[in-house]
Amino acid sequence: MLAGKRILLIIGGGIAAYKALELIRRLREAGAGVTPVLTRAGQQFVTPLSAAALAGAKAYTDLFDLTDEAEMGHIQLSRAADLLVVAPATADLMAKMAGGHADDLASTLLMATDKRVLIAPAMNVRMWQHPATQRNLAALRADGVLAVGPDEGDMACGEYGPGRMAEVPAIMAAIAAALGDGPLKGRRILVTSGPTEEPIDPVRYIANRSSGAQGTALAAALAALGAEVAFVTGPASVPPPQGVAVVRVRTAAEMLKAVLAALPADAAVFAAAVADWRVTGASPGKIKKDGSGHPPVLELAENPDILARVAAMKAGRPRLVVGFAAETDAVLENARAKRMRKGCDWIVANDVSPATGIMGGAENAVTLITAEGEEAWPRMSKAEVARCLAARIAGVLA
Ligand code: C5P
Repeated sequence: MLAGKRILLIIGGGIAAYKALELIRRLREAGAGVTPVLTRAGQQFVTPLSAAALAGAKAYTDLFDLTDEAEMGHIQLSRAADLLVVAPATADLMAKMAGGHADDLASTLLMATDKRVLIAPAMNVRMWQHPATQRNLAALRADGVLAVGPDEGDMACGEYGPGRMAEVPAIMAAIAAALGDGPLKGRRILVTSGPTEEPIDPVRYIANRSSGAQGTALAAALAALGAEVAFVTGPASVPPPQGVAVVRVRTAAEMLKAVLAALPADAAVFAAAVADWRVTGASPGKIKKDGSGHPPVLELAENPDILARVAAMKAGRPRLVVGFAAETDAVLENARAKRMRKGCDWIVANDVSPATGIMGGAENAVTLITAEGEEAWPRMSKAEVARCLAARIAGVLA
């Protein structure tokens, strides 16, 4: 299943780098092509010669190696691969990636690529648990970067805990999944995300506080399981994940059009916070204060309910239609009623009252409501909620 795939393997500077050599061997056995890139610190642990010999290909080390630039520019190098794998991903390399640095070949390739990136973190347990590393990990995940490990266990530095690089078979499985060989391979899934903006006039609009974080995490999690994801997003503050087809829209009407154009799909998940109303007859020019003391009156019209429209489709309805119910009061009662009213299969209910910090925040506490029953999931990161939900979707579609 990895036959013919091209992996750009970035080897960072950690004792786990020796496992990267084993990874090259296993990838080659599986029929994949490997281009090794060693950071300066990586070369302290394994040599470019070993990596090149095992890969049967040139190992790259230097951004300013003009011969390499003549052979293959760094942009091309980063794009010629099907997947970028960083193993071991050190705390420093993760920080560079999260910060968008591009001061050596490895970090420049990571910035220049248009392909998915999988990291296998490896570092001392305290460095792994440090808030800076955890912040960087969250930022990378939000960017759509995939991670495998680290494992928990005895470490080369004599301490115990999470920080050991994932074992080679686990990295191989994560690579296969990232390349679309996961349980959702061959399945097409539509995800809506973000807020919509409804214009009042050319400079003003009605919007909401949705950041798009949950929808984005979900698209990334579904793609990580091998799904072909169509991602229709309003103007979100979180950037869309890599490796998914992105359609950007502004209004609810545009979102409906984009959703219908993106069908058919095996499943559709409606995580967008669609404005319920739009302003009728939005002014073509900026509305002015006229000095009369009478502010303008905005007349609202109801927007189409995209979820309900898709759930009610006679022909071509996705096999699984999932909605979200963001509520501030009587969360479960409202969510149950919403599932019936909108005709969707599942509703993911969450409490977005300001005290929860969920709207626009990094965590979510949801209850999954299906025809079979209700499951309250513990509060966890939106990325974790996305992975659980993606796994459940895979359980239905796979
Ligand atoms: O009615 P409410 O906005 O609470 O419903 C939430 C669910 O319905 C979400 O899944 C949201 O994406 C979807 N929705 C929609 N189109 C609308 C309003 C909501 O798809 N106009």
